Amino acid sequence: MALYAMGDFHLSFQVDKSMDVFGKVWRHHEKKIEKYVNRMVSSEDTLVLTGDHSWGRNLEECRLDLEFIRNLPGRKILLRGNHDMFWDAKKTRALNERFNPELFFLQDNYYAYEDYALVGTKGYTFEGPFYYDAWGNLMGWDEDRQAHAEKLVEREMTRLRRSFDSAASAGYKKFIMFLHYPPTNILEKESPFTKIAAEYGAEQVVYSHCHGASRYGDSIRGEDQGIIYHLVSGDYLDFKPVKILP
Ligand SMILES: [Fe+2]
Ligand SMILES: [Fe+2]
Repeated sequence: MALYAMGDFHLSFQVDKSMDVFGKVWRHHEKKIEKYVNRMVSSEDTLVLTGDHSWGRNLEECRLDLEFIRNLPGRKILLRGNHDMFWDAKKTRALNERFNPELFFLQDNYYAYEDYALVGTKGYTFEGPFYYDAWGNLMGWDEDRQAHAEKLVEREMTRLRRSFDSAASAGYKKFIMFLHYPPTNILEKESPFTKIAAEYGAEQVVYSHCHGASRYGDSIRGEDQGIIYHLVSGDYLDFKPVKILP
């Protein structure tokens, strides 16, 4: 039994939105997902998918994308990404009822993995625009957008606390925390998300959303203040899932 994670499949079996324009790594990426996930993940394993599952704008347009995910091995737990238009956070219960027991949607709830609770939410972070001088030195950023981002961070913090608290009140003391957005942006060494991970004693924080070599270093990777951070964007991993727990 093992816990794996990967994110950002950006599937488009029904809508015309090829990812091939974003580089060679995306060519037939759904074939790579199928190949590597089937090779690495067994039916007793858990696979957490950290958002941006589908380009479909509603459940009907996502039907084949979700079917593709359902056909992957193991227990599939899905997190909301910023592109997951089919998933209204307030209607997560209905999604869970509809897809149970094939897909599990992580929002305001938690899922058990041995003595760990898997908790999470989409998250949010200010991503610019940032302004640079001709030498590439950061000179400033859009402060209105930054102020707006802080409001979205607040809302996501409330959701993340709900997830942690539901697990804690059920007696869980060990946590793996999942986000779609990176926990910090290029201006930050820490954030409300890294602080909440420390407050509840999360052992690992898993996130995706960052695409392309120029963005992979946007946030924390590896160990930081006793917590292990993993970037699991599909393109970063060449679509091989990462083992989070044995
Ligand atoms: Fe994405
Ligand atoms: Fe994203």
